[in-house]
Amino acid sequence: MATNFDEIIDRRQSDSIKWRKYGDALPMWVADMDFLAPEPIRAALRERVEHGVFGYASEPPELRDALRAWLQRRFDWTVAPEAFVIVPGVVTAFNVACRAFCAAGDGVLIQAPVYPPMRTAQANFGLTRDEMELTRGNDGRYEVDYDLMAATITERTKLFLLCSPHNPTGRVWTKDELARMAEISLRRGLVICSDEIHGDLVYSPHRHRPMASLDGEIARRTVTIMAPSKTFNVPGLGFSFAVIEDRDLRRQYKAAAADIVPHVGPLGYAGALAAYTECDEWLAECIEYLRGNRDFVAQFVRERLPGVSMGLPEATYLAWLDFNDADLPDDPQRFFLQRARVAMNECDPFGPGSCGFGRLNFGCPRSILTEALERMERALTTKNQSTQGPPSL
Ligand SMILES: Cc1ncc(COP(=O)(O)O)c(C=O)c1O
Repeated sequence: MATNFDEIIDRRQSDSIKWRKYGDALPMWVADMDFLAPEPIRAALRERVEHGVFGYASEPPELRDALRAWLQRRFDWTVAPEAFVIVPGVVTAFNVACRAFCAAGDGVLIQAPVYPPMRTAQANFGLTRDEMELTRGNDGRYEVDYDLMAATITERTKLFLLCSPHNPTGRVWTKDELARMAEISLRRGLVICSDEIHGDLVYSPHRHRPMASLDGEIARRTVTIMAPSKTFNVPGLGFSFAVIEDRDLRRQYKAAAADIVPHVGPLGYAGALAAYTECDEWLAECIEYLRGNRDFVAQFVRERLPGVSMGLPEATYLAWLDFNDADLPDDPQRFFLQRARVAMNECDPFGPGSCGFGRLNFGCPRSILTEALERMERALTTKNQSTQGPPSL
Protein backbone atom coordinates (compact mmCIF):
# COMPACT_ATOMS: atom_id res chain seq x y z
CA MET A 1 0.00 0.00 0.00
CA ALA A 2 1.30 3.45 -0.84
CA THR A 3 -0.48 4.87 2.22
CA ASN A 4 0.35 3.76 5.74
CA PHE A 5 -3.06 3.53 7.39
CA ASP A 6 -1.40 2.14 10.54
CA GLU A 7 0.21 5.52 11.19
CA ILE A 8 -1.09 7.15 14.36
CA ILE A 9 -1.85 10.82 13.91
CA ASP A 10 -2.12 12.70 17.19
CA ARG A 11 -5.55 14.33 17.07
CA ARG A 12 -5.89 14.96 20.80
CA GLN A 13 -4.02 18.21 20.43
CA SER A 14 -6.07 19.24 17.38
CA ASP A 15 -9.55 20.79 17.15
CA SER A 16 -11.15 17.33 16.64
CA ILE A 17 -14.66 16.95 18.14
CA LYS A 18 -14.14 13.22 18.05
CA TRP A 19 -11.05 13.34 20.28
CA ARG A 20 -12.23 16.14 22.58
CA LYS A 21 -15.77 15.29 23.54
CA TYR A 22 -15.05 12.36 25.88
CA GLY A 23 -11.75 13.52 27.37
CA ASP A 24 -9.19 10.74 27.67
CA ALA A 25 -11.53 7.97 26.42
CA LEU A 26 -10.73 6.25 23.11
CA PRO A 27 -13.18 7.87 20.69
CA MET A 28 -14.96 5.28 18.57
CA TRP A 29 -18.08 7.34 17.94
CA VAL A 30 -18.66 10.16 15.40
CA ALA A 31 -18.17 9.14 11.76
CA ASP A 32 -14.79 10.55 10.91
CA MET A 33 -11.67 8.48 10.41
CA ASP A 34 -8.26 8.92 12.03
CA PHE A 35 -6.39 8.82 8.71
CA LEU A 36 -4.61 11.62 6.88
CA ALA A 37 -6.59 12.88 3.90
CA PRO A 38 -5.08 11.82 0.55
CA GLU A 39 -2.00 13.79 -0.47
CA PRO A 40 -3.58 15.34 -3.62
CA ILE A 41 -6.27 16.92 -1.42
CA ARG A 42 -3.69 18.23 1.04
CA ALA A 43 -1.63 19.62 -1.85
CA ALA A 44 -4.65 21.39 -3.34
CA LEU A 45 -5.49 22.88 0.06
CA ARG A 46 -1.89 24.02 0.64
CA GLU A 47 -1.89 25.76 -2.69
CA ARG A 48 -5.21 27.44 -1.99
CA VAL A 49 -4.12 28.50 1.52
CA GLU A 50 -0.90 29.97 0.09
CA HIS A 51 -2.99 32.23 -2.11
CA GLY A 52 -4.04 33.84 1.12
CA VAL A 53 -7.32 35.51 0.17
CA PHE A 54 -10.45 33.70 1.31
CA GLY A 55 -13.33 35.61 -0.19
CA TYR A 56 -16.61 34.05 -1.34
CA ALA A 57 -15.84 31.31 -3.80
CA SER A 58 -17.46 30.37 -7.08
CA GLU A 59 -17.67 26.84 -8.38
CA PRO A 60 -14.49 25.76 -10.23
CA PRO A 61 -15.31 25.47 -13.95
CA GLU A 62 -13.99 21.87 -14.04
CA LEU A 63 -16.09 20.71 -11.08
CA ARG A 64 -19.22 19.45 -12.85
CA ASP A 65 -17.22 17.43 -15.36
CA ALA A 66 -15.24 15.95 -12.46
CA LEU A 67 -18.45 14.99 -10.62
CA ARG A 68 -20.01 13.55 -13.76
CA ALA A 69 -16.92 11.50 -14.53
CA TRP A 70 -16.88 10.22 -10.94
CA LEU A 71 -20.51 9.10 -11.06
CA GLN A 72 -19.94 7.48 -14.43
CA ARG A 73 -16.88 5.49 -13.46
CA ARG A 74 -17.99 4.53 -9.95
CA PHE A 75 -21.67 3.82 -10.56
CA ASP A 76 -22.09 3.74 -14.32
CA TRP A 77 -24.53 6.62 -13.81
CA THR A 78 -24.87 9.31 -16.47
CA VAL A 79 -25.95 12.68 -15.08
CA ALA A 80 -26.58 15.93 -16.96
CA PRO A 81 -24.32 18.86 -15.97
CA GLU A 82 -27.26 21.02 -14.93
CA ALA A 83 -28.54 18.40 -12.45
CA PHE A 84 -26.05 19.35 -9.72
CA VAL A 85 -26.82 21.64 -6.80
CA ILE A 86 -23.81 22.30 -4.58
CA VAL A 87 -24.57 22.40 -0.84
CA PRO A 88 -22.17 22.85 2.11
CA GLY A 89 -23.19 19.65 3.95
CA VAL A 90 -25.44 16.60 3.70
CA VAL A 91 -27.51 17.33 6.83
CA THR A 92 -28.24 20.76 5.39
CA ALA A 93 -29.05 19.15 2.05
CA PHE A 94 -31.74 16.81 3.39
CA ASN A 95 -33.19 19.56 5.58
CA VAL A 96 -33.57 21.63 2.41
CA ALA A 97 -35.45 18.70 0.86
CA CYS A 98 -37.90 18.75 3.80
CA ARG A 99 -38.41 22.46 3.31
CA ALA A 100 -38.76 22.16 -0.46
CA PHE A 101 -41.22 19.31 -0.77
CA CYS A 102 -43.40 19.46 2.35
CA ALA A 103 -45.78 21.96 3.93
CA ALA A 104 -46.51 22.23 7.66
CA GLY A 105 -48.36 19.12 8.85
CA ASP A 106 -47.01 16.88 6.07
CA GLY A 107 -45.10 13.72 6.91
CA VAL A 108 -41.59 12.42 6.28
CA LEU A 109 -41.01 8.67 6.02
CA ILE A 110 -38.00 7.36 7.96
CA GLN A 111 -36.57 3.86 8.47
CA ALA A 112 -35.20 3.32 11.98
CA PRO A 113 -32.71 2.81 13.43
CA VAL A 114 -31.08 5.58 11.41
CA TYR A 115 -28.56 8.43 11.48
CA PRO A 116 -30.14 10.72 14.11
CA PRO A 117 -30.32 14.00 12.13
CA MET A 118 -32.47 12.18 9.56
CA ARG A 119 -35.00 11.44 12.32
CA THR A 120 -35.13 15.00 13.58
CA ALA A 121 -35.10 16.99 10.32
CA GLN A 122 -38.92 16.97 10.05
CA ALA A 123 -39.25 18.79 13.38
CA ASN A 124 -37.39 21.78 11.93
CA PHE A 125 -40.30 22.40 9.57
CA GLY A 126 -43.40 21.45 11.57
CA LEU A 127 -43.68 18.09 9.81
CA THR A 128 -44.59 14.72 11.28
CA ARG A 129 -42.22 11.79 11.48
CA ASP A 130 -43.71 8.72 9.81
CA GLU A 131 -41.33 6.15 11.17
CA MET A 132 -41.07 2.44 10.48
CA GLU A 133 -38.59 -0.03 11.91
CA LEU A 134 -36.27 -2.07 9.76
CA THR A 135 -36.38 -5.80 10.48
CA ARG A 136 -33.30 -7.37 12.04
CA GLY A 137 -32.56 -10.98 11.15
CA ASN A 138 -30.80 -13.47 13.45
CA ASP A 139 -27.53 -12.79 11.64
CA GLY A 140 -27.83 -9.07 12.47
CA ARG A 141 -28.68 -8.19 8.86
CA TYR A 142 -31.46 -5.67 8.45
CA GLU A 143 -34.20 -5.78 5.82
CA VAL A 144 -37.19 -3.71 4.78
CA ASP A 145 -40.69 -4.94 5.55
CA TYR A 146 -42.51 -3.58 2.49
CA ASP A 147 -46.00 -4.07 3.92
CA LEU A 148 -44.98 -2.08 6.97
CA MET A 149 -43.46 0.57 4.74
CA ALA A 150 -46.70 0.92 2.77
CA ALA A 151 -48.73 0.98 5.99
CA THR A 152 -46.54 3.71 7.53
CA ILE A 153 -47.20 6.10 4.67
CA THR A 154 -50.24 8.32 5.34
CA GLU A 155 -52.20 10.73 3.18
CA ARG A 156 -49.93 13.49 4.47
CA THR A 157 -46.60 11.74 3.83
CA LYS A 158 -44.76 13.62 1.10
CA LEU A 159 -41.09 12.73 1.40
CA PHE A 160 -39.09 9.54 1.94
CA LEU A 161 -35.69 10.15 3.57
CA LEU A 162 -33.70 7.10 2.58
CA CYS A 163 -30.25 6.29 3.95
CA SER A 164 -28.35 4.33 1.28
CA PRO A 165 -26.05 2.65 2.18
CA HIS A 166 -27.59 2.59 5.59
CA ASN A 167 -26.08 4.10 8.72
CA PRO A 168 -25.93 2.46 11.29
CA THR A 169 -26.83 -1.01 9.99
CA GLY A 170 -24.19 -1.09 7.24
CA ARG A 171 -26.64 -2.40 4.64
CA VAL A 172 -26.02 -1.76 0.96
CA TRP A 173 -29.51 -1.97 -0.47
CA THR A 174 -29.69 -4.29 -3.47
CA LYS A 175 -31.19 -3.27 -6.80
CA ASP A 176 -34.30 -5.27 -5.98
CA GLU A 177 -34.71 -3.67 -2.54
CA LEU A 178 -34.27 -0.19 -4.00
CA ALA A 179 -36.74 -0.93 -6.79
CA ARG A 180 -39.38 -2.12 -4.32
CA MET A 181 -38.91 0.92 -2.06
CA ALA A 182 -39.11 3.19 -5.11
CA GLU A 183 -42.22 1.47 -6.40
CA ILE A 184 -44.07 2.04 -3.11
CA SER A 185 -42.84 5.64 -2.87
CA LEU A 186 -43.80 6.58 -6.39
CA ARG A 187 -47.17 4.84 -6.18
CA ARG A 188 -47.93 6.94 -3.08
CA GLY A 189 -46.70 10.15 -4.69
CA LEU A 190 -43.61 10.69 -2.49
CA VAL A 191 -40.42 12.47 -3.40
CA ILE A 192 -37.39 10.35 -2.48
CA CYS A 193 -34.41 12.05 -0.88
CA SER A 194 -31.60 9.53 -0.88
CA ASP A 195 -28.65 10.27 1.42
CA GLU A 196 -25.79 8.39 -0.26
CA ILE A 197 -22.89 9.87 1.69
CA HIS A 198 -21.59 6.35 2.47
CA GLY A 199 -21.96 5.12 -1.11
CA ASP A 200 -18.26 5.17 -1.99
CA LEU A 201 -17.12 3.00 0.94
CA VAL A 202 -18.57 -0.34 -0.10
CA TYR A 203 -17.06 -3.81 0.32
CA SER A 204 -17.24 -6.11 -2.68
CA PRO A 205 -19.16 -8.18 -3.66
CA HIS A 206 -21.68 -5.54 -2.58
CA ARG A 207 -22.26 -2.73 -5.00
CA HIS A 208 -23.80 0.66 -4.35
CA ARG A 209 -26.46 1.72 -6.82
CA PRO A 210 -27.69 5.29 -6.64
CA MET A 211 -31.47 5.12 -6.27
CA ALA A 212 -31.90 7.58 -9.15
CA SER A 213 -29.80 5.44 -11.48
CA LEU A 214 -32.39 2.64 -11.48
CA ASP A 215 -34.59 4.22 -14.13
CA GLY A 216 -35.81 7.53 -15.52
CA GLU A 217 -39.14 7.47 -13.70
CA ILE A 218 -37.41 7.08 -10.33
CA ALA A 219 -34.82 9.72 -11.27
CA ARG A 220 -37.61 12.23 -11.93
CA ARG A 221 -38.81 11.89 -8.31
CA THR A 222 -35.45 11.62 -6.56
CA VAL A 223 -32.96 13.98 -4.94
CA THR A 224 -29.62 12.20 -4.43
CA ILE A 225 -27.15 13.62 -1.94
CA MET A 226 -23.48 12.72 -2.04
CA ALA A 227 -20.22 14.07 -0.63
CA PRO A 228 -16.48 13.41 -0.46
CA SER A 229 -16.66 13.77 3.35
CA LYS A 230 -16.74 10.12 4.42
CA THR A 231 -15.04 8.80 1.30
CA PHE A 232 -11.83 10.80 1.67
CA ASN A 233 -12.12 11.72 5.34
CA VAL A 234 -12.72 15.43 4.75
CA PRO A 235 -16.03 16.10 6.58
CA GLY A 236 -14.64 19.33 8.00
CA LEU A 237 -14.35 20.86 4.52
CA GLY A 238 -18.12 21.27 4.19
CA PHE A 239 -18.74 20.21 0.61
CA SER A 240 -21.59 18.08 -0.71
CA PHE A 241 -23.82 17.99 -3.74
CA ALA A 242 -27.36 17.08 -4.67
CA VAL A 243 -28.23 15.49 -8.01
CA ILE A 244 -31.73 16.49 -9.11
CA GLU A 245 -32.49 15.52 -12.67
CA ASP A 246 -36.05 16.86 -12.82
CA ARG A 247 -36.20 20.56 -13.62
CA ASP A 248 -39.22 21.33 -11.43
CA LEU A 249 -37.90 19.46 -8.41
CA ARG A 250 -34.57 21.24 -8.87
CA ARG A 251 -36.26 24.63 -9.04
CA GLN A 252 -38.24 23.91 -5.86
CA TYR A 253 -35.09 22.67 -4.14
CA LYS A 254 -33.04 25.73 -5.09
CA ALA A 255 -35.84 28.04 -3.98
CA ALA A 256 -35.93 26.33 -0.56
CA ALA A 257 -32.17 26.72 -0.19
CA ALA A 258 -32.00 30.35 -1.32
CA ASP A 259 -30.87 32.81 1.36
CA ILE A 260 -30.65 30.30 4.21
CA VAL A 261 -27.96 27.92 2.98
CA PRO A 262 -24.43 29.35 3.02
CA HIS A 263 -22.05 29.02 0.08
CA VAL A 264 -19.36 26.38 -0.08
CA GLY A 265 -16.04 27.98 0.81
CA PRO A 266 -12.84 28.04 -1.27
CA LEU A 267 -11.25 25.18 0.68
CA GLY A 268 -14.33 23.01 0.17
CA TYR A 269 -14.16 23.51 -3.58
CA ALA A 270 -10.40 22.99 -3.79
CA GLY A 271 -10.58 19.78 -1.73
CA ALA A 272 -13.57 18.35 -3.60
CA LEU A 273 -12.03 18.89 -7.01
CA ALA A 274 -8.82 17.11 -6.01
CA ALA A 275 -10.82 14.34 -4.30
CA TYR A 276 -12.89 13.49 -7.33
CA THR A 277 -10.05 13.67 -9.85
CA GLU A 278 -6.87 12.42 -8.17
CA CYS A 279 -7.69 10.08 -5.30
CA ASP A 280 -9.10 6.83 -6.74
CA GLU A 281 -6.02 4.87 -5.76
CA TRP A 282 -6.07 6.15 -2.18
CA LEU A 283 -9.73 5.16 -1.92
CA ALA A 284 -9.10 1.62 -3.16
CA GLU A 285 -6.40 1.20 -0.52
CA CYS A 286 -8.53 2.74 2.21
CA ILE A 287 -11.40 0.34 1.49
CA GLU A 288 -9.04 -2.61 1.71
CA TYR A 289 -7.69 -1.40 5.05
CA LEU A 290 -11.22 -0.84 6.36
CA ARG A 291 -12.26 -4.29 5.17
CA GLY A 292 -9.44 -5.72 7.31
CA ASN A 293 -10.69 -3.70 10.29
CA ARG A 294 -14.27 -4.79 9.69
CA ASP A 295 -13.31 -8.46 9.61
CA PHE A 296 -11.13 -7.98 12.70
CA VAL A 297 -14.04 -6.42 14.64
CA ALA A 298 -16.44 -9.15 13.53
CA GLN A 299 -14.04 -11.91 14.59
CA PHE A 300 -13.21 -10.20 17.90
CA VAL A 301 -16.90 -9.74 18.72
CA ARG A 302 -17.64 -13.37 17.85
CA GLU A 303 -14.74 -14.86 19.79
CA ARG A 304 -14.05 -12.49 22.66
CA LEU A 305 -17.12 -10.42 23.51
CA PRO A 306 -19.63 -12.84 25.06
CA GLY A 307 -23.26 -11.93 24.55
CA VAL A 308 -22.44 -9.34 21.87
CA SER A 309 -23.35 -9.73 18.19
CA MET A 310 -23.28 -7.72 14.99
CA GLY A 311 -24.23 -7.99 11.34
CA LEU A 312 -21.29 -7.74 8.94
CA PRO A 313 -21.22 -4.18 7.55
CA GLU A 314 -21.52 -4.20 3.76
CA ALA A 315 -20.41 -0.58 3.61
CA THR A 316 -18.71 2.14 5.62
CA TYR A 317 -16.76 1.91 8.89
CA LEU A 318 -19.49 1.64 11.50
CA ALA A 319 -20.30 -1.54 13.40
CA TRP A 320 -23.75 -1.73 14.99
CA LEU A 321 -23.19 -3.86 18.07
CA ASP A 322 -26.05 -5.60 19.83
CA PHE A 323 -25.42 -5.82 23.60
CA ASN A 324 -28.89 -7.00 24.56
CA ASP A 325 -27.68 -10.48 25.54
CA ALA A 326 -24.56 -9.20 27.31
CA ASP A 327 -26.34 -8.62 30.59
CA LEU A 328 -24.86 -5.16 31.10
CA PRO A 329 -25.70 -3.32 34.33
CA ASP A 330 -26.21 -0.07 32.37
CA ASP A 331 -26.84 1.37 28.91
CA PRO A 332 -23.94 0.15 26.65
CA GLN A 333 -22.61 3.61 25.85
CA ARG A 334 -22.43 4.63 29.52
CA PHE A 335 -21.11 1.26 30.60
CA PHE A 336 -18.17 1.20 28.19
CA LEU A 337 -17.43 4.87 28.65
CA GLN A 338 -17.16 4.45 32.40
CA ARG A 339 -15.70 0.97 32.65
CA ALA A 340 -13.51 0.79 29.53
CA ARG A 341 -12.91 4.45 28.67
CA VAL A 342 -14.18 3.67 25.16
CA ALA A 343 -16.67 6.14 23.67
CA MET A 344 -19.29 4.79 21.27
CA ASN A 345 -22.37 6.61 20.05
CA GLU A 346 -25.39 6.70 22.32
CA CYS A 347 -28.06 4.41 20.91
CA ASP A 348 -31.31 6.24 21.78
CA PRO A 349 -31.05 8.99 19.13
CA PHE A 350 -31.02 6.29 16.41
CA GLY A 351 -34.67 5.64 17.21
CA PRO A 352 -36.91 2.59 17.71
CA GLY A 353 -35.03 -0.69 17.66
CA SER A 354 -31.77 0.84 18.88
CA CYS A 355 -32.11 0.18 22.62
CA GLY A 356 -29.20 -1.92 23.87
CA PHE A 357 -27.07 -1.24 20.79
CA GLY A 358 -23.88 0.77 20.39
CA ARG A 359 -22.28 2.15 17.22
CA LEU A 360 -18.54 1.61 16.99
CA ASN A 361 -16.43 3.49 14.43
CA PHE A 362 -13.61 1.30 13.11
CA GLY A 363 -12.11 3.93 10.76
CA CYS A 364 -8.82 4.12 12.63
CA PRO A 365 -5.40 2.45 12.79
CA ARG A 366 -5.69 -1.23 13.72
CA SER A 367 -3.71 -0.70 16.93
CA ILE A 368 -6.26 1.80 18.27
CA LEU A 369 -9.10 -0.52 17.31
CA THR A 370 -7.40 -3.43 19.05
CA GLU A 371 -6.89 -1.38 22.21
CA ALA A 372 -10.55 -0.33 22.23
CA LEU A 373 -11.85 -3.87 21.76
CA GLU A 374 -9.50 -5.29 24.40
CA ARG A 375 -10.67 -2.66 26.87
CA MET A 376 -14.26 -3.62 26.10
CA GLU A 377 -13.42 -7.28 26.60
CA ARG A 378 -11.90 -6.52 30.01
CA ALA A 379 -14.90 -4.44 31.01
CA LEU A 380 -17.26 -7.25 30.01
CA THR A 381 -15.37 -9.94 31.87
CA THR A 382 -15.17 -7.84 35.03
CA LYS A 383 -18.63 -6.28 34.76
CA ASN A 384 -19.90 -7.77 37.99
CA GLN A 385 -16.95 -6.51 40.02
CA SER A 386 -17.04 -3.06 41.58
CA THR A 387 -15.33 -0.38 39.50
CA GLN A 388 -11.65 0.01 40.21
CA GLY A 389 -11.52 3.25 38.25
CA PRO A 390 -10.88 3.63 34.52
CA PRO A 391 -7.99 1.72 32.93
CA SER A 392 -4.86 3.78 32.50
CA LEU A 393 -4.08 4.93 28.96
C1 LIG B 1 -26.01 9.20 6.68
C2 LIG B 1 -25.26 10.45 6.99
N1 LIG B 1 -25.66 11.61 6.45
C3 LIG B 1 -25.01 12.77 6.70
C4 LIG B 1 -23.91 12.81 7.53
C5 LIG B 1 -23.23 14.11 7.83
O1 LIG B 1 -23.07 14.86 6.68
P1 LIG B 1 -22.55 16.37 6.77
O2 LIG B 1 -21.44 16.39 7.75
O3 LIG B 1 -22.12 16.66 5.35
O4 LIG B 1 -23.71 17.20 7.17
C6 LIG B 1 -23.46 11.62 8.12
C7 LIG B 1 -22.32 11.64 9.04
O5 LIG B 1 -22.07 10.72 9.77
C8 LIG B 1 -24.15 10.42 7.83
O6 LIG B 1 -23.76 9.25 8.36
